[in-house]
Amino acid sequence: MTSLAGHSGSDSAQASFALADEGATRAFAARLAALLEPGDLVALSGDLGAGKTTLARGVLHALGVTGEVPSPTFTLVQHYETPYLTVLHADLYRIEDTADLVELGLEDALAYAALVVEWPEKLGAAFAPHRLAGRLDLDLVIAGGDARHVAATGHGRWAAKLERLVP
Ligand SMILES: Nc1ncnc2c1ncn2[C@@H]1O[C@H](COP(=O)(O)OP(=O)(O)O)[C@@H](O)[C@H]1O
Ligand SMILES: [Mg+2]
Repeated sequence: MTSLAGHSGSDSAQASFALADEGATRAFAARLAALLEPGDLVALSGDLGAGKTTLARGVLHALGVTGEVPSPTFTLVQHYETPYLTVLHADLYRIEDTADLVELGLEDALAYAALVVEWPEKLGAAFAPHRLAGRLDLDLVIAGGDARHVAATGHGRWAAKLERLVP
């Protein structure tokens, strides 16, 4: 079941998605990948094991990345040149101070790349929705076994694109 609830008059929209298994997560990620543009931030929230990295891998594979997509747990950020788009995949779990973000170059990269960020709670005010061309917030929740629930909020140009994530 998928529900879409737009907020008329504002530039954000919400939807929820049920992903029955990892295949459903990969399919969702592929639809997302097709809509990604430079300047977009995809913010992936959720507990450890919720599927943030799995979803990010799905996005990168759908964009044509072949081979391994390591979790950026220790490198903090991984850089991918795909045939269509440059993508930075970051995991900010280990970031303790927003000042440490500067050297990761995420903000500068928005000029030419899309960002896929795990633990986006660590991002500073520079990444607030109104500062960005488009931001997609995905909150992943383990719904038992392999099932995942995704609460999605699209800001800016992602408000209009959200419905295109529906299968
Ligand atoms: N529907 C699903 N979507 C994503 N991952 C799933 C799903 N079902 C099972 N999994 C498993 O859950 C784990 C998610 O781990 P990971 O993606 O590293 O989570 P996170 O990055 O949120 O800590 C993986 O072992 C993956 O195989
Ligand atoms: Mg992860």
